[in-house]
Amino acid sequence: MIIDIQNVSWDRNQIQILQNINWQVNEGEHWCLLGLNGSGKTTLLNMINGYIWPTEGSMAVLGKTFGEFDLRELRKNIGWVSTSLQQKLYGSETAIKIVLSGKFATIGLYDQTDTEDMKRAEALMKALGCTALMERTYDTMSQGERQRVLIARALMASPKLLILDEPCTGLDVFAREQLLQMVAAVAAEKNAPTIIYVTHHVEEILPVFTKTLLIKDGQVFAADETKDVLTSTLMSDFFEVPVDIQSRDGRNWLSVKGDLWN
Ligand SMILES: Nc1ncnc2c1ncn2[C@@H]1O[C@H](COP(=O)(O)OP(=O)(O)OP(=O)(O)O)[C@@H](O)[C@H]1O
Ligand SMILES: [Mg+2]
Repeated sequence: MIIDIQNVSWDRNQIQILQNINWQVNEGEHWCLLGLNGSGKTTLLNMINGYIWPTEGSMAVLGKTFGEFDLRELRKNIGWVSTSLQQKLYGSETAIKIVLSGKFATIGLYDQTDTEDMKRAEALMKALGCTALMERTYDTMSQGERQRVLIARALMASPKLLILDEPCTGLDVFAREQLLQMVAAVAAEKNAPTIIYVTHHVEEILPVFTKTLLIKDGQVFAADETKDVLTSTLMSDFFEVPVDIQSRDGRNWLSVKGDLWN
């Protein structure tokens, strides 16, 4: 099992931000994670990465039970792309160094790298179409360029788990489709990592994401096959607003039917 979360809650300032979460992710599954702003998605991912610890309950990631192992070692097996990671990176660092730092799951490059590492970093940057950015510093790159570099960084250590927290934020429509194609290509590879994809936009859920977790007010609303979750009825219940889901070319499109002001 890749992730096993049992009855997990997380409190902050007497407020329960995650409540009694149960979620199991098996090897070979790719999950989409949907929920409104503030529902607890990033908090849950921070917990999977070991940045915060459950107040209650137990969890194991990649077979390691929390409290019994070195988190820095675990993080090397988890590729992570998120806007909160973007904020932590150093603006003066070059793209190639950022990609190389993925091997050690560190912010900044402190460890020694060899020619093999360099070859892998270059190959990943090529695959993600960002070879031209190699010597560019992070602060000079556009949002779409940064996302590509961050995905290359996340893949550097050949992770078993790849977490993409709203990777298409700030991308134009073509950059978004390109990035989604890259995600599909990563998922199709032999020994592909398990991917968790967080988004607000159902049209970003590629067919490869056959499982979906809906999270609402810090609780699991549904955790099931995507085809059973992404129905007009269930999503209308979830949002408490009538919505219509249309499926086209293996992707889903949502339109709001209700009046949001009443
Ligand atoms: N360290 C913290 N201290 C206090 N409150 C927190 C902390 N971290 C998160 N929260 C609160 O927990 C709730 C869930 O936040 P989280 O970032 O997980 O939401 P999210 O689902 O990722 O939302 P978004 O879609 O906007 O990214 C929010 O109300 C947030 O303000
Ligand atoms: Mg978030």
